[in-house]
Amino acid sequence: MAILVVDKITKRFGGFQVLQDVSLKVEEGSITGLVGPNGSGKSTLLSTVFGFYKPDGGDVYFKGDKITALPPHDVYKKGIAFAFQIPRLFFKLTVLDNLLMAARDHVGTTLDGTLFLRKKWKNQELELARRAFEILELLDLSKLVSHKAGELSGGQRKLLEIGKALMASPDMIFLDEPAAGINPVLSRKIYQNLIELKKKGMTFLVVEHKLEVLLEFADYVYMMDSGKILLSGKPKEVINDPLFYNVYVGEAKDVVSG
Ligand SMILES: Nc1ncnc2c1ncn2[C@@H]1O[C@H](COP(=O)(O)OP(=O)(O)OP(=O)(O)O)[C@@H](O)[C@H]1O
Ligand SMILES: [Mg+2]
Repeated sequence: MAILVVDKITKRFGGFQVLQDVSLKVEEGSITGLVGPNGSGKSTLLSTVFGFYKPDGGDVYFKGDKITALPPHDVYKKGIAFAFQIPRLFFKLTVLDNLLMAARDHVGTTLDGTLFLRKKWKNQELELARRAFEILELLDLSKLVSHKAGELSGGQRKLLEIGKALMASPDMIFLDEPAAGINPVLSRKIYQNLIELKKKGMTFLVVEHKLEVLLEFADYVYMMDSGKILLSGKPKEVINDPLFYNVYVGEAKDVVSG
C-alpha cells in the first residue's frame, strides 16, 4: 500500500516552472530513492510535499488523508519528519539538546503536563534521553554528545540532522542527500540502519546522488529532470536505462552489469 501519494504537483517560482505535474507513490515500509541532476527539482519537491511551499497545482495524500498545502508542523504531526540537505541545527546547543528538542509531544511543554503529570513527564524525559543515546550510538556520534552542534564537521552535522528526524519517531522520513559528505563506510552503516528501521515499518523517501548506495538499498527509484519525473522502477532498471545516462551522467555507458 502506498503511504505517500503525490499527484500532479506543479510549482513555479516567479515565471520559472520548477515542478511540472510530478506524480509518485511511496510504498509503506520502503526505501524509495529520488535521483536527478543538480537543479532538477528534488529538494523543491520534498519541500512542497512537506508544506514549506504551496503547490500551484496537484495534491498530496499521506496514509490516505489529503495533506496538500498543510503547514509543515501539521505534516510533521501527521508523522513525516524531514532531514534537510543543509542541516538545521541549534549551533549553540549541545548535540544531545539538539536531539531532545526534536522529539514530538513533550509532556513537559504543556502546563497540564508540568503541573499534574510530573511522573509521566519524568518518565518521558528519561525515555527520550535513552532514545537520544541510542541514536547517537547508531550514528557514531556518542563521543560528541556534549559538544556544541556548531563545533561539528560538515559530515557530523548531516548525521545529527538525520538523528533529529529519527528522534521524532515518525512513520516516514524525507532524507535529502543523507550520505553527502559522509565517508563510504559510515554511509553504508546509515543505510543498513535504515533497513532495520524499515523492517519495523518505517518508510523513507531519499534524495541520493550515490548510485551504488541506491543499487544496494533502495526498493524503488524515481528519476527527475527539469522538474519532471522521467523514469521509475527498480534501481537496476532505472540505472541501466539509456535515458538515465543521457540525463544524469551525460553519456551512455554500461556500468551496471549482471
Ligand atoms: N526558493 C526558490 N526561489 C527560486 N528558485 C528556486 C528556489 N528554490 C529552488 N529554486 C530553483 O529551482 C530549481 C530546482 O532546485 P532544487 O533545489 O529543487 O534542485 P535539486 O534537484 O534539489 O538540486 P541539488 O541536487 O543541487 O540539490 C533550481 O533551478 C533552483 O535554482
Ligand atoms: Mg537538493
